[in-house]
Amino acid sequence: MLENARKLRSFLSTQAKVVISYVYDVSNYLRYNGDSLLVPKKERLYYRIIVDAHSVEKGLSLKDRRPGFGQQKIKRLMKEVSSYDTSFGAFPLEMAVGALRAYVDFHPQGPELHFVEEVRQFVERFTKLDGVALTGGVQSAVPRVEGPALTLLEGLQSRHSVRHFDQQLIDRTTLLELVRLAQGAPSQCNRQATRVYVYQGRHQIDRILALQGGARGFSQSISNLVIVTSDTRAWRGSNQRNQIYVDGALFLMHFLLAAEALRLVACPLNLAVDSRVERQIRSVGRIRPGERLIACVALGPMAGAAISFAKSPRRPIDEVVSFIAEE
Ligand SMILES: Cc1cc2nc3c(=O)[nH]c(=O)nc-3n(C[C@H](O)[C@H](O)[C@H](O)COP(=O)(O)O)c2cc1C
Repeated sequence: MLENARKLRSFLSTQAKVVISYVYDVSNYLRYNGDSLLVPKKERLYYRIIVDAHSVEKGLSLKDRRPGFGQQKIKRLMKEVSSYDTSFGAFPLEMAVGALRAYVDFHPQGPELHFVEEVRQFVERFTKLDGVALTGGVQSAVPRVEGPALTLLEGLQSRHSVRHFDQQLIDRTTLLELVRLAQGAPSQCNRQATRVYVYQGRHQIDRILALQGGARGFSQSISNLVIVTSDTRAWRGSNQRNQIYVDGALFLMHFLLAAEALRLVACPLNLAVDSRVERQIRSVGRIRPGERLIACVALGPMAGAAISFAKSPRRPIDEVVSFIAEE
């Protein structure tokens, strides 16, 4: 009897700590998220510009690009760049102006000329400045389909998110090999709580991608779609509350590199959705209860022809690394 009471007390105390830790997570998120009024607007612009610039690059990397696309977003981007304070780092500005220059280059002439001219003049303001490298845009490369397997270093250097796919279905042997390689990902105490759902039916893929929303403009070319999930049952107590996403993301990264090694092209697709959409995706995708959504991955065979992709330039390394001297 006494033993049961002790167990119940310990159980309730653990669950109370879970609630307290989630309150900490919520307050931290409210304090620092990209909409928070407690973060200076100029500081928040850093990431906003990158995201908007990337959507221009992304649009340019699609096969069916509409002339004059994205005008509203581009106007917003130009406004953001104009009010950006480069003392936070020149990277977003360089990425954005590079993407806008690629946008102008895509329109030698056309019905949207007036708008494109406005963008061209905007880009020109920055090209005249010394030391501004225009890093954003699109790039193309011919993937190495023949020959020896890629080394790890080659795979790390050649992987890019690709947003148009050869519609051929990937055979089951290759898909199983892909998952087997992704299983090499490390996981906490070897829990391996991550799961992979594969979809190759047109109707089901369309329904999932309509809910996902991040593959507009290329969803019709996706014939092989994967959802990566992770099982909540693997985690206990307040300290492990976010570990499901750490293990899930490591698996996802291994999966993307494995795809590269097997000469497939891939694009991770976010599953950052609200709880209602998560339930809908879970239902359409026939995902087991208790599993959380990590991400989708669109996959296709690597054709021998050149593929174009968004440059997605990387931040200067000194913004990323801090060597902390001992005090
Ligand atoms: C978790 C995650 C979610 C993503 N979601 C999308 C998406 O919904 N749509 C899309 O086109 N790209 C998406 N991407 C791809 C990123 O835009 C891409 O990884 C980034 O620009 C870096 O480019 P790279 O993958 O070519 O190196 C996602 C990437 C990650 C890691």
